[in-house]
Amino acid sequence: MYEMILTETPAPGVGLVRINRPQALNALNSQVSREIFSALEAFDADPAIGCMILTGSDKAFAAGADIKEMQGIDAVTLFAEADFTDWSRMTRLRKPVIAAVSGWALGGGCEMAMICDMIVCSETAKFGQPEISIGVMPGAGGTQRLTRAVGKALAMEIMLGNRQLTAQEALHHGLVNHVYPIETYLAETVKLAEKIAAMPGVAVKLIKDSINRADELSLSEGLNYEKRNFYLLFGTEDKAEGMSAFIDKRKPAWKNR
Ligand code: CAA
Repeated sequence: MYEMILTETPAPGVGLVRINRPQALNALNSQVSREIFSALEAFDADPAIGCMILTGSDKAFAAGADIKEMQGIDAVTLFAEADFTDWSRMTRLRKPVIAAVSGWALGGGCEMAMICDMIVCSETAKFGQPEISIGVMPGAGGTQRLTRAVGKALAMEIMLGNRQLTAQEALHHGLVNHVYPIETYLAETVKLAEKIAAMPGVAVKLIKDSINRADELSLSEGLNYEKRNFYLLFGTEDKAEGMSAFIDKRKPAWKNR
């Protein structure tokens, strides 16, 4: 069904999408991107899946948008076809997505990792937004999401000076959650995803939704938004089960309802 990605369920409740275009260091042409979005949407709609992982190879998560595909495109065509606007499909996923990054995460590759809800990486990961060196600039969220993640001063240096961040620097500046040896980063990501997938599903979705709103809303609007999601959870079977299980001193059996 897919030509440029692979999908699997490496653990109960975990849906994994692997970008598989090794000859181009997983460069994201329009077909790869479409396949990623479709596969993630399919896992998002699958009741057996509670958390997703997006990964590439040990050598490259993705070396950016496909420069060979973009070379022949002019501004009017780009505008007419609204290229890259379909990347917002990833922001509409309701279940969490963890990027498992090793090797290159450059340009659109870094941007795609940052659209995910968390990033776990190997010690070899390199994050950067090198678009300036091909005469353009980030176009899939880099100036916005990287700035929010690492702050203005460092974001300026990365995007204006083509500076790359090592895995340890990315950890230090809050871009990633964990750095692991290359041999274990994916297994560790699967463990984290499995843990999240075992949590009550409605609460998982509403917590993700509320946290992502923090970047969009003022504090008072955000607090109001959070409160409504909190109230909503009091209508779920999992709220009744979770509180009873605590009082009965037993493990809750979630229904994701
Ligand atoms: N697009 C298309 N092809 C790419 C690519 C990309 N972004 N990155 C790598 N490739 C291809 C290379 O052309 C090469 O193919 P050929 O063998 O057919 O020549 C193959 O992948 C292997 O690449 P290299 O030989 O360059 O490998 P390397 O190990 O010497 O260098 C690298 C690795 C430093 C990542 C280098 O490939 C590189 O600089 N890539 C481009 C990075 C980049 O500029 N990304 C930003 C793209 S623009 C963007 O993403 C816009 C946006 O914001 C949406």
